[in-house]
Amino acid sequence: MPTKVNLAGPKGQLYADPVPTTDEDAFQVNNTSAAYYKSPYYLANMKLVQPIPPPRAGAPSHLDLADYLPADMIAAINSAGSITFHSTGDTGAAKVSAQQSAATALADEASVADAMAADVRTSGANTPAFFFHLGDVVYNFGEAQYYYDQFYEPYRAYDRPIFAIPGNHDGMVFGASSSAPQVPTLTAFLNNFCAASPAPSPEAPTIARSVMTQPGVYFTLDAPFVSIIGLYSNVLDTGGGIISSQGGKYPIPDVQLAFLTAELTRLKPQRQAGQRAIIIAVHHPPLSCDVKTGGSGGLMQDIDSCCKNAGLWPDLLLSGHAHLYQRFTRTVNGRQAPYIVCGSGGFAATAPMTGTPPAGTVVGDHKLEIAPIIQFGYLTITTNGKTLTASFNSAPRNAPAKQLDSVTVNLVKGVLTAGGSAPAPAPAPKPAPKPAPKPKPTPKPAPKPVQKPVRKPAQKPKRPVPKPAKGGAKNKAR
Ligand SMILES: [Fe+2]
Repeated sequence: MPTKVNLAGPKGQLYADPVPTTDEDAFQVNNTSAAYYKSPYYLANMKLVQPIPPPRAGAPSHLDLADYLPADMIAAINSAGSITFHSTGDTGAAKVSAQQSAATALADEASVADAMAADVRTSGANTPAFFFHLGDVVYNFGEAQYYYDQFYEPYRAYDRPIFAIPGNHDGMVFGASSSAPQVPTLTAFLNNFCAASPAPSPEAPTIARSVMTQPGVYFTLDAPFVSIIGLYSNVLDTGGGIISSQGGKYPIPDVQLAFLTAELTRLKPQRQAGQRAIIIAVHHPPLSCDVKTGGSGGLMQDIDSCCKNAGLWPDLLLSGHAHLYQRFTRTVNGRQAPYIVCGSGGFAATAPMTGTPPAGTVVGDHKLEIAPIIQFGYLTITTNGKTLTASFNSAPRNAPAKQLDSVTVNLVKGVLTAGGSAPAPAPAPKPAPKPAPKPKPTPKPAPKPVQKPVRKPAQKPKRPVPKPAKGGAKNKAR
Protein backbone atom coordinates (compact mmCIF):
# COMPACT_ATOMS: atom_id res chain seq x y z
CA MET A 1 0.00 0.00 0.00
CA PRO A 2 1.54 3.33 -0.93
CA THR A 3 2.25 5.80 1.78
CA LYS A 4 -0.28 8.59 1.78
CA VAL A 5 -0.21 11.97 3.35
CA ASN A 6 -2.49 12.04 6.34
CA LEU A 7 -4.04 14.86 8.29
CA ALA A 8 -2.09 16.70 10.91
CA GLY A 9 -4.11 18.86 13.29
CA PRO A 10 -3.09 22.44 14.06
CA LYS A 11 -1.51 21.33 17.33
CA GLY A 12 0.37 18.47 15.75
CA GLN A 13 -2.33 15.87 16.26
CA LEU A 14 -2.12 12.76 14.12
CA TYR A 15 -5.08 10.55 13.35
CA ALA A 16 -4.25 7.68 10.99
CA ASP A 17 -1.32 5.46 10.24
CA PRO A 18 0.26 6.34 6.90
CA VAL A 19 0.41 2.66 5.98
CA PRO A 20 -2.30 0.86 7.92
CA THR A 21 -1.68 -2.79 8.59
CA THR A 22 -4.26 -5.43 7.80
CA ASP A 23 -6.96 -6.13 10.39
CA GLU A 24 -6.00 -8.12 13.45
CA ASP A 25 -7.42 -11.60 13.86
CA ALA A 26 -6.12 -12.17 17.37
CA PHE A 27 -5.82 -10.00 20.45
CA GLN A 28 -2.40 -8.62 21.21
CA VAL A 29 -3.36 -8.79 24.85
CA ASN A 30 -5.68 -11.65 25.52
CA ASN A 31 -8.86 -10.28 27.07
CA THR A 32 -9.58 -12.04 30.31
CA SER A 33 -11.43 -9.31 32.14
CA ALA A 34 -14.81 -11.05 32.06
CA ALA A 35 -13.48 -12.92 35.09
CA TYR A 36 -13.99 -9.75 37.13
CA TYR A 37 -17.73 -10.13 36.82
CA LYS A 38 -17.49 -12.88 39.41
CA SER A 39 -15.01 -11.15 41.65
CA PRO A 40 -15.95 -10.08 45.16
CA TYR A 41 -14.75 -6.61 44.28
CA TYR A 42 -17.06 -6.22 41.30
CA LEU A 43 -20.02 -7.78 43.04
CA ALA A 44 -19.58 -5.34 45.90
CA ASN A 45 -19.41 -2.34 43.56
CA MET A 46 -21.72 -3.18 40.70
CA LYS A 47 -24.69 -1.21 41.99
CA LEU A 48 -22.70 1.83 43.08
CA VAL A 49 -22.15 4.93 41.04
CA GLN A 50 -18.58 6.12 40.74
CA PRO A 51 -17.19 9.63 41.17
CA ILE A 52 -17.30 12.02 38.22
CA PRO A 53 -13.73 13.12 37.55
CA PRO A 54 -13.45 16.91 37.60
CA PRO A 55 -12.59 18.58 34.29
CA ARG A 56 -8.93 19.33 33.66
CA ALA A 57 -7.95 22.47 35.53
CA GLY A 58 -8.22 25.54 33.36
CA ALA A 59 -9.71 23.71 30.37
CA PRO A 60 -12.78 25.35 28.84
CA SER A 61 -15.91 23.22 28.87
CA HIS A 62 -16.26 23.40 25.11
CA LEU A 63 -13.93 22.39 22.33
CA ASP A 64 -13.61 23.99 18.95
CA LEU A 65 -13.26 21.61 16.00
CA ALA A 66 -10.93 24.18 14.46
CA ASP A 67 -8.36 23.14 17.05
CA TYR A 68 -8.36 19.61 15.64
CA LEU A 69 -8.61 19.94 11.86
CA PRO A 70 -6.43 21.90 9.46
CA ALA A 71 -7.68 25.40 8.71
CA ASP A 72 -8.32 24.59 5.04
CA MET A 73 -10.68 21.78 6.03
CA ILE A 74 -12.65 24.05 8.34
CA ALA A 75 -12.77 26.64 5.56
CA ALA A 76 -14.04 23.99 3.13
CA ILE A 77 -16.81 22.99 5.54
CA ASN A 78 -17.85 26.60 6.01
CA SER A 79 -17.74 27.18 2.32
CA ALA A 80 -19.83 24.07 1.58
CA GLY A 81 -22.38 25.31 4.10
CA SER A 82 -22.81 22.01 5.91
CA ILE A 83 -20.93 19.45 7.97
CA THR A 84 -21.03 15.65 8.01
CA PHE A 85 -19.76 13.44 10.81
CA HIS A 86 -19.97 9.89 12.16
CA SER A 87 -21.34 8.55 15.41
CA THR A 88 -21.86 5.18 17.04
CA GLY A 89 -21.18 3.52 20.38
CA ASP A 90 -20.17 0.25 21.94
CA THR A 91 -17.32 -0.46 19.58
CA GLY A 92 -15.03 -2.65 21.64
CA ALA A 93 -14.19 -6.22 20.70
CA ALA A 94 -13.95 -8.47 23.70
CA LYS A 95 -16.73 -10.96 23.89
CA VAL A 96 -15.32 -14.41 23.36
CA SER A 97 -17.61 -17.33 23.98
CA ALA A 98 -18.57 -20.70 22.60
CA GLN A 99 -20.41 -18.83 19.87
CA GLN A 100 -17.79 -16.19 19.15
CA SER A 101 -14.04 -16.41 18.72
CA ALA A 102 -11.58 -13.56 19.22
CA ALA A 103 -11.23 -13.38 15.45
CA THR A 104 -14.99 -12.96 15.02
CA ALA A 105 -15.21 -10.31 17.70
CA LEU A 106 -12.35 -8.37 16.14
CA ALA A 107 -13.86 -8.73 12.68
CA ASP A 108 -17.19 -7.32 13.84
CA GLU A 109 -15.54 -4.24 15.25
CA ALA A 110 -13.27 -3.93 12.22
CA SER A 111 -16.21 -4.08 9.82
CA VAL A 112 -17.64 -0.89 11.32
CA ALA A 113 -14.30 0.88 11.73
CA ASP A 114 -13.18 0.00 8.21
CA ALA A 115 -16.48 1.16 6.69
CA MET A 116 -16.16 4.50 8.47
CA ALA A 117 -12.54 4.85 7.38
CA ALA A 118 -13.61 4.11 3.82
CA ASP A 119 -16.25 6.87 4.06
CA VAL A 120 -13.54 9.30 5.03
CA ARG A 121 -11.42 8.28 2.05
CA THR A 122 -14.18 8.29 -0.53
CA SER A 123 -16.93 10.72 0.40
CA GLY A 124 -15.58 13.71 -1.50
CA ALA A 125 -17.18 17.01 -0.60
CA ASN A 126 -19.24 15.40 2.15
CA THR A 127 -16.33 13.70 3.84
CA PRO A 128 -17.10 13.14 7.52
CA ALA A 129 -15.16 15.61 9.63
CA PHE A 130 -14.95 13.56 12.83
CA PHE A 131 -16.35 10.61 14.76
CA PHE A 132 -18.28 11.26 17.98
CA HIS A 133 -18.12 8.04 20.01
CA LEU A 134 -21.14 7.32 22.23
CA GLY A 135 -19.26 5.35 24.88
CA ASP A 136 -18.13 1.84 25.77
CA VAL A 137 -14.85 2.15 23.98
CA VAL A 138 -13.15 -0.69 25.86
CA TYR A 139 -14.70 -3.82 27.38
CA ASN A 140 -15.19 -5.02 29.96
CA PHE A 141 -13.77 -2.55 32.47
CA GLY A 142 -12.13 0.14 30.37
CA GLU A 143 -8.71 -1.28 31.09
CA ALA A 144 -5.67 0.47 29.66
CA GLN A 145 -4.14 -2.74 28.36
CA TYR A 146 -7.06 -3.33 26.00
CA TYR A 147 -7.02 0.11 24.34
CA TYR A 148 -4.69 -1.17 21.62
CA ASP A 149 -6.85 -4.09 20.50
CA GLN A 150 -10.20 -2.40 20.99
CA PHE A 151 -9.55 1.19 19.92
CA TYR A 152 -6.21 2.21 18.43
CA GLU A 153 -5.72 -0.77 16.14
CA PRO A 154 -9.28 -0.90 14.75
CA TYR A 155 -9.26 2.87 14.05
CA ARG A 156 -5.66 3.08 12.80
CA ALA A 157 -6.88 3.99 9.28
CA TYR A 158 -9.58 6.47 10.37
CA ASP A 159 -8.02 9.78 9.41
CA ARG A 160 -10.14 12.07 11.52
CA PRO A 161 -10.40 13.13 15.18
CA ILE A 162 -12.39 10.84 17.45
CA PHE A 163 -14.17 12.48 20.38
CA ALA A 164 -15.86 10.30 23.01
CA ILE A 165 -18.08 10.29 26.03
CA PRO A 166 -17.42 7.36 28.35
CA GLY A 167 -19.85 4.49 28.66
CA ASN A 168 -20.45 2.41 31.73
CA HIS A 169 -17.76 -0.07 30.72
CA ASP A 170 -15.18 2.69 30.41
CA GLY A 171 -15.79 3.71 34.00
CA MET A 172 -16.49 0.41 35.69
CA VAL A 173 -13.99 -0.40 38.40
CA PHE A 174 -11.75 -3.38 38.56
CA GLY A 175 -8.68 -4.62 40.33
CA ALA A 176 -5.36 -6.13 39.45
CA SER A 177 -6.74 -9.51 40.37
CA SER A 178 -10.21 -10.80 40.91
CA SER A 179 -10.28 -9.58 44.48
CA ALA A 180 -7.82 -6.74 44.24
CA PRO A 181 -8.10 -3.09 45.09
CA GLN A 182 -9.74 -0.60 42.81
CA VAL A 183 -8.11 1.12 39.91
CA PRO A 184 -9.73 4.56 40.00
CA THR A 185 -12.68 4.85 37.69
CA LEU A 186 -12.00 6.14 34.16
CA THR A 187 -8.22 6.12 34.60
CA ALA A 188 -7.49 4.86 31.09
CA PHE A 189 -10.27 6.92 29.49
CA LEU A 190 -8.87 10.11 30.98
CA ASN A 191 -5.36 9.26 29.78
CA ASN A 192 -6.55 8.56 26.25
CA PHE A 193 -9.32 11.12 25.72
CA CYS A 194 -8.73 13.88 28.23
CA ALA A 195 -4.97 14.39 28.05
CA ALA A 196 -3.45 17.84 28.50
CA SER A 197 -1.71 17.70 25.12
CA PRO A 198 -1.69 15.50 22.03
CA ALA A 199 0.91 12.74 22.01
CA PRO A 200 1.09 9.06 21.13
CA SER A 201 -0.95 6.92 23.46
CA PRO A 202 0.98 5.08 26.14
CA GLU A 203 -1.28 2.17 25.28
CA ALA A 204 -0.45 2.18 21.57
CA PRO A 205 2.91 3.86 20.94
CA THR A 206 3.31 2.14 17.58
CA ILE A 207 0.10 3.68 16.22
CA ALA A 208 0.02 7.23 14.91
CA ARG A 209 -3.23 8.42 16.48
CA SER A 210 -2.68 11.04 19.17
CA VAL A 211 -4.49 10.99 22.45
CA MET A 212 -7.46 13.35 22.54
CA THR A 213 -7.50 16.52 24.62
CA GLN A 214 -11.08 16.83 25.84
CA PRO A 215 -11.52 18.84 29.03
CA GLY A 216 -13.20 15.96 30.81
CA VAL A 217 -15.85 13.29 30.62
CA TYR A 218 -18.59 15.84 29.93
CA PHE A 219 -17.95 18.59 27.40
CA THR A 220 -19.31 20.30 24.31
CA LEU A 221 -17.85 20.01 20.84
CA ASP A 222 -18.49 23.15 18.80
CA ALA A 223 -18.13 22.55 15.08
CA PRO A 224 -19.38 24.57 12.13
CA PHE A 225 -23.20 24.26 12.01
CA VAL A 226 -23.47 21.91 15.01
CA SER A 227 -22.69 21.61 18.70
CA ILE A 228 -22.71 18.28 20.49
CA ILE A 229 -23.14 18.39 24.26
CA GLY A 230 -21.74 15.15 25.69
CA LEU A 231 -22.75 13.88 29.14
CA TYR A 232 -21.35 11.11 31.31
CA SER A 233 -24.05 8.73 32.55
CA ASN A 234 -21.90 6.74 35.00
CA VAL A 235 -21.25 3.06 35.42
CA LEU A 236 -24.41 1.18 36.19
CA ASP A 237 -24.89 -1.72 33.85
CA THR A 238 -28.35 -2.34 35.18
CA GLY A 239 -30.23 0.66 36.45
CA GLY A 240 -29.90 3.12 33.62
CA GLY A 241 -27.97 6.31 33.15
CA ILE A 242 -27.30 8.69 36.01
CA ILE A 243 -25.93 12.18 35.46
CA SER A 244 -26.88 13.75 38.79
CA SER A 245 -27.67 13.00 42.40
CA GLN A 246 -31.37 12.86 41.41
CA GLY A 247 -32.32 14.83 44.47
CA GLY A 248 -29.87 13.14 46.79
CA LYS A 249 -30.51 9.58 45.71
CA TYR A 250 -26.97 9.12 44.42
CA PRO A 251 -23.75 10.38 46.02
CA ILE A 252 -22.54 12.44 43.09
CA PRO A 253 -22.71 16.19 42.57
CA ASP A 254 -25.12 17.91 40.19
CA VAL A 255 -22.32 19.48 38.17
CA GLN A 256 -23.60 18.09 34.89
CA LEU A 257 -27.00 19.72 35.37
CA ALA A 258 -25.32 23.08 35.78
CA PHE A 259 -23.07 22.32 32.81
CA LEU A 260 -25.92 21.25 30.53
CA THR A 261 -28.07 24.25 31.42
CA ALA A 262 -25.15 26.62 30.92
CA GLU A 263 -24.22 25.10 27.57
CA LEU A 264 -27.79 25.20 26.26
CA THR A 265 -28.02 28.80 27.39
CA ARG A 266 -24.72 29.66 25.72
CA LEU A 267 -25.76 28.04 22.44
CA LYS A 268 -29.34 29.28 22.37
CA PRO A 269 -28.74 32.51 20.43
CA GLN A 270 -26.87 30.69 17.66
CA ARG A 271 -29.53 27.99 17.54
CA GLN A 272 -32.30 30.55 17.34
CA ALA A 273 -30.45 32.36 14.58
CA GLY A 274 -30.45 29.13 12.53
CA GLN A 275 -26.67 28.89 12.68
CA ARG A 276 -26.26 25.50 14.31
CA ALA A 277 -28.04 22.35 15.33
CA ILE A 278 -27.89 21.24 18.96
CA ILE A 279 -27.30 17.59 19.77
CA ILE A 280 -27.16 15.96 23.19
CA ALA A 281 -25.14 12.74 23.46
CA VAL A 282 -25.30 10.42 26.46
CA HIS A 283 -24.32 6.77 26.64
CA HIS A 284 -27.39 5.33 28.40
CA PRO A 285 -30.57 5.87 26.40
CA PRO A 286 -33.36 7.96 27.89
CA LEU A 287 -35.64 6.03 25.56
CA SER A 288 -35.20 2.41 24.58
CA CYS A 289 -37.62 -0.33 23.71
CA ASP A 290 -35.04 -3.00 24.40
CA VAL A 291 -36.22 -4.41 27.69
CA LYS A 292 -32.68 -5.24 28.65
CA THR A 293 -31.61 -1.65 28.52
CA GLY A 294 -34.90 0.00 29.14
CA GLY A 295 -35.20 3.72 29.24
CA SER A 296 -33.69 5.88 31.93
CA GLY A 297 -36.45 7.93 33.45
CA GLY A 298 -34.31 9.88 35.90
CA LEU A 299 -31.88 10.70 33.15
CA MET A 300 -34.68 11.94 30.92
CA GLN A 301 -36.09 14.08 33.71
CA ASP A 302 -32.68 15.58 34.40
CA ILE A 303 -32.10 16.46 30.75
CA ASP A 304 -35.62 17.82 30.39
CA SER A 305 -35.28 20.04 33.44
CA CYS A 306 -32.11 21.60 32.02
CA CYS A 307 -33.80 22.15 28.67
CA LYS A 308 -36.75 23.80 30.37
CA ASN A 309 -34.49 26.03 32.40
CA ALA A 310 -32.52 27.08 29.34
CA GLY A 311 -35.58 27.29 27.08
CA LEU A 312 -33.87 25.17 24.46
CA TRP A 313 -34.42 21.55 23.48
CA PRO A 314 -32.08 19.35 21.46
CA ASP A 315 -32.61 18.82 17.77
CA LEU A 316 -31.34 15.25 18.14
CA LEU A 317 -30.46 13.04 21.08
CA LEU A 318 -27.90 10.27 20.59
CA SER A 319 -27.26 7.28 22.85
CA GLY A 320 -25.62 3.89 22.78
CA HIS A 321 -25.53 1.14 25.42
CA ALA A 322 -28.17 -1.07 23.78
CA HIS A 323 -26.40 -3.02 21.05
CA LEU A 324 -28.82 -2.28 18.30
CA TYR A 325 -30.30 0.63 16.40
CA GLN A 326 -33.56 2.26 17.46
CA ARG A 327 -35.15 5.51 16.37
CA PHE A 328 -37.88 7.38 18.17
CA THR A 329 -39.45 10.72 17.43
CA ARG A 330 -40.13 12.77 20.53
CA THR A 331 -42.48 15.74 20.39
CA VAL A 332 -42.04 18.51 22.92
CA ASN A 333 -43.84 21.83 22.73
CA GLY A 334 -45.05 20.87 19.27
CA ARG A 335 -41.56 20.27 17.92
CA GLN A 336 -40.26 16.91 16.78
CA ALA A 337 -36.76 15.59 17.40
CA PRO A 338 -35.23 12.16 16.77
CA TYR A 339 -34.00 10.21 19.79
CA ILE A 340 -31.66 7.60 18.38
CA VAL A 341 -29.98 4.64 20.06
CA CYS A 342 -26.94 3.45 18.12
CA GLY A 343 -24.92 1.03 20.21
CA SER A 344 -24.10 -0.95 17.11
CA GLY A 345 -20.40 -0.20 16.84
CA GLY A 346 -19.09 -3.75 17.04
CA PHE A 347 -19.73 -5.33 20.41
CA ALA A 348 -22.24 -8.18 20.44
CA ALA A 349 -25.26 -7.07 18.43
CA THR A 350 -28.11 -8.12 20.65
CA ALA A 351 -31.76 -8.54 19.89
CA PRO A 352 -34.25 -7.42 22.49
CA MET A 353 -34.83 -10.09 25.08
CA THR A 354 -38.58 -9.96 24.62
CA GLY A 355 -40.66 -8.57 21.85
CA THR A 356 -40.60 -4.90 21.00
CA PRO A 357 -43.45 -2.64 20.09
CA PRO A 358 -44.22 -2.52 16.40
CA ALA A 359 -42.97 0.41 14.40
CA GLY A 360 -45.35 3.30 14.79
CA THR A 361 -46.14 2.67 18.43
CA VAL A 362 -46.78 5.89 20.31
CA VAL A 363 -46.25 6.15 24.04
CA GLY A 364 -46.73 9.50 25.67
CA ASP A 365 -44.71 12.08 23.78
CA HIS A 366 -42.66 9.69 21.69
CA LYS A 367 -43.09 7.29 18.83
CA LEU A 368 -41.00 4.33 17.73
CA GLU A 369 -40.51 5.01 14.05
CA ILE A 370 -39.05 1.73 12.80
CA ALA A 371 -38.50 -1.75 14.08
CA PRO A 372 -35.11 -1.99 15.83
CA ILE A 373 -32.24 -3.03 13.60
CA ILE A 374 -29.99 -5.64 15.15
CA GLN A 375 -26.93 -5.20 13.00
CA PHE A 376 -23.53 -3.62 13.42
CA GLY A 377 -23.27 -0.17 11.96
CA TYR A 378 -22.91 3.56 12.45
CA LEU A 379 -24.59 6.89 11.88
CA THR A 380 -23.72 9.47 9.29
CA ILE A 381 -25.12 12.86 10.29
CA THR A 382 -25.24 15.96 8.10
CA THR A 383 -26.50 19.40 9.05
CA ASN A 384 -26.35 22.97 7.86
CA GLY A 385 -27.96 24.37 10.99
CA LYS A 386 -31.38 24.53 9.36
CA THR A 387 -31.94 20.88 8.48
CA LEU A 388 -30.37 17.75 9.90
CA THR A 389 -30.22 14.26 8.41
CA ALA A 390 -29.15 11.18 10.37
CA SER A 391 -28.70 7.90 8.52
CA PHE A 392 -27.94 4.46 9.90
CA ASN A 393 -25.56 2.37 7.84
CA SER A 394 -25.09 -1.31 8.51
CA ALA A 395 -21.53 -2.53 8.16
CA PRO A 396 -21.58 -6.30 7.87
CA ARG A 397 -18.47 -8.42 7.67
CA ASN A 398 -17.19 -8.90 4.14
CA ALA A 399 -19.92 -6.83 2.53
CA PRO A 400 -20.32 -3.17 1.67
CA ALA A 401 -21.96 -0.83 4.15
CA LYS A 402 -25.59 -0.17 3.38
CA GLN A 403 -27.96 2.56 4.51
CA LEU A 404 -30.94 1.03 6.32
CA ASP A 405 -32.65 4.06 7.83
CA SER A 406 -32.63 7.82 7.51
CA VAL A 407 -34.44 10.75 9.06
CA THR A 408 -34.41 14.42 8.15
CA VAL A 409 -35.58 17.21 10.42
CA ASN A 410 -36.46 20.73 9.44
CA LEU A 411 -34.91 22.54 12.37
CA VAL A 412 -36.67 25.80 11.65
CA LYS A 413 -40.13 24.26 11.83
CA GLY A 414 -39.26 21.40 14.19
CA VAL A 415 -40.79 18.73 11.98
CA LEU A 416 -39.54 15.57 10.36
CA THR A 417 -39.52 15.95 6.62
CA ALA A 418 -38.35 12.43 5.86
CA GLY A 419 -38.20 9.23 7.81
CA GLY A 420 -41.14 9.94 10.04
CA SER A 421 -44.74 8.98 10.32
CA ALA A 422 -44.52 5.24 10.35
CA PRO A 423 -48.13 4.19 10.56
CA ALA A 424 -49.22 3.72 14.11
CA PRO A 425 -50.52 0.23 14.71
CA ALA A 426 -53.42 1.65 16.63
CA PRO A 427 -56.61 -0.26 16.27
CA ALA A 428 -58.49 2.98 16.03
CA PRO A 429 -59.61 3.64 12.48
CA LYS A 430 -58.57 7.22 12.63
CA PRO A 431 -59.07 9.27 9.56
CA ALA A 432 -55.70 9.82 8.01
CA PRO A 433 -54.99 13.38 8.98
CA LYS A 434 -53.29 14.64 5.90
CA PRO A 435 -51.46 13.07 3.09
CA ALA A 436 -48.53 15.24 4.00
CA PRO A 437 -45.81 13.45 5.93
CA LYS A 438 -46.37 15.47 9.04
CA PRO A 439 -46.60 13.06 11.90
CA LYS A 440 -49.13 14.52 14.21
CA PRO A 441 -47.97 13.92 17.72
CA THR A 442 -51.36 13.07 19.03
CA PRO A 443 -50.65 11.80 22.48
CA LYS A 444 -53.29 9.21 22.46
CA PRO A 445 -53.15 6.25 24.70
CA ALA A 446 -50.72 4.11 22.88
CA PRO A 447 -51.43 0.56 22.09
CA LYS A 448 -49.82 -1.15 24.95
CA PRO A 449 -46.39 -1.87 23.66
CA VAL A 450 -44.31 -4.82 23.95
CA GLN A 451 -44.49 -5.90 27.46
CA LYS A 452 -46.25 -9.10 27.78
CA PRO A 453 -48.62 -9.22 30.62
CA VAL A 454 -46.75 -9.72 33.81
CA ARG A 455 -46.92 -13.32 34.60
CA LYS A 456 -47.35 -13.37 38.29
CA PRO A 457 -49.15 -10.72 40.15
CA ALA A 458 -46.59 -10.86 42.89
CA GLN A 459 -43.72 -10.14 40.51
CA LYS A 460 -41.98 -6.85 40.52
CA PRO A 461 -43.74 -4.76 37.87
CA LYS A 462 -41.85 -4.82 34.63
CA ARG A 463 -40.87 -1.69 32.89
CA PRO A 464 -43.43 -0.30 30.51
CA VAL A 465 -41.30 -0.35 27.53
CA PRO A 466 -40.18 2.73 25.80
CA LYS A 467 -41.66 4.91 28.44
CA PRO A 468 -38.98 6.69 30.40
CA ALA A 469 -39.60 5.18 33.72
CA LYS A 470 -37.11 4.11 36.29
CA GLY A 471 -33.63 3.08 35.30
CA GLY A 472 -33.46 0.18 32.91
CA ALA A 473 -32.81 -3.37 33.85
CA LYS A 474 -30.74 -5.45 31.58
CA ASN A 475 -28.11 -8.02 31.31
CA LYS A 476 -24.42 -7.51 31.65
CA ALA A 477 -21.94 -6.32 29.10
CA ARG A 478 -23.84 -3.45 27.65
FE1 LIG B 1 -23.00 0.43 27.96
